Amino acid sequence: MMTPITINPLFQSILALSAADAGQNRLVYTPNWVAAQTQLLQAGVVDDLQARVDQYGNVYLDLPGRLPELPAIATGSHMDTVVNGGALDGLYGIIGGLTAVQRLRHQYGQPKRTLRIIAFSEEEGSRFPATFSGSKYYARRDQVTNLVDATGVSFEAARITAVQSLKRIPRVIFQRPDLPATFTELHIEQGPRLIHEHRTIGLVAAIVGQRRFNITVHGVANHAGTTPMVGRIDALTLTTQLLVQLQQAAAQTDPELTYTVGQLAVVPNTANTIPGKVTFSVDFRHPSSTVLDAFETKLTAIVAAANQPQHPVESRRVNDVPRPLDATMLANNRRIASQLGYHPLTLVSGAGHDSAVMSQVVPTTMLFVPSIGGISHAPTEQTAPDDLTAGVDVLTESLYHQAY
Ligand code: GLV
Ligand code: MN
Ligand code: MN
Repeated sequence: MMTPITINPLFQSILALSAADAGQNRLVYTPNWVAAQTQLLQAGVVDDLQARVDQYGNVYLDLPGRLPELPAIATGSHMDTVVNGGALDGLYGIIGGLTAVQRLRHQYGQPKRTLRIIAFSEEEGSRFPATFSGSKYYARRDQVTNLVDATGVSFEAARITAVQSLKRIPRVIFQRPDLPATFTELHIEQGPRLIHEHRTIGLVAAIVGQRRFNITVHGVANHAGTTPMVGRIDALTLTTQLLVQLQQAAAQTDPELTYTVGQLAVVPNTANTIPGKVTFSVDFRHPSSTVLDAFETKLTAIVAAANQPQHPVESRRVNDVPRPLDATMLANNRRIASQLGYHPLTLVSGAGHDSAVMSQVVPTTMLFVPSIGGISHAPTEQTAPDDLTAGVDVLTESLYHQAY
């Protein structure tokens, strides 16, 4: 009998890294993140799995198959979190994948095809303005260039230091493996639909298109008391006008369009100085590219109108990932879940996932379990222990059918 995922010692010790915080904090390449990837690599080595790390800090644990020339069957998720995130977003798919592979080895021995657990370095875009940088590197898509975090540390400097420390772990190979034959990601739903429908398992048909922009408004910083009101170029006042226009444009585009400004950086952020610069994020999502294009056209026009020689406004597009997932793998998972006694719900994910990137290069599928209260990206994120187990059970069967 394997340890239930909720009391799995590796799961608990990775969660304990953030014990002093309000929630989970494993922003990419930070000390907590390095400690978590280290623990995972060491657990893989102890378990006699082939442990690898690549240049971006993606971790790969392989249970080699009898036919090693065949591409692997991969599962996993991301190790990073948002600021003060929950216990399950990302980590559940990694520990769930490891648990499934351990169970299969215990019960059936060596697989025919190699089984691979992947812990992608970064999916959230919470530290640097880039998302899915780990899976994009593995999938041979984009690489990150010239980014800095809020404290001015560059992505390159952070990445190199963090990866150096992972490379030094005994018996860890420094290499990016070949692409797998398939990718299956187990994840919490992060929304309310499974709970509302009283279902345990969700099958993801597609992942919404998600676009992010960073918009910077330049004003002129000056003394709050001595500068007359007339003639000030206050970047925050200009930003509030922009925010109202963008919010109205989003509301008029489509009822299903989600629109969020979650990050606002005011410079110098001092009570007695007129703000000289404001940068804010815009995140908008919809299943249809046409609707995303329509809102992007409005956003671009609003920003262009606000961009004046005395107060320049710049915008930078960060990403775009509308993706259908593999229909055949979904049908197989529906059959497996039904045989295990579940009545799975097929849905579209409103959250972004590494699967959106992986699906561009290999057949990819996702399994969801319910999120209590539909809450995620918050310390109160939770799933009933039986539902966590159910997700791992379906994943185990799905991997068995693909690899044995
Ligand atoms: C990631 O969790 C996202 O959907 O932003
Ligand atoms: Mn996630
Ligand atoms: Mn997330």
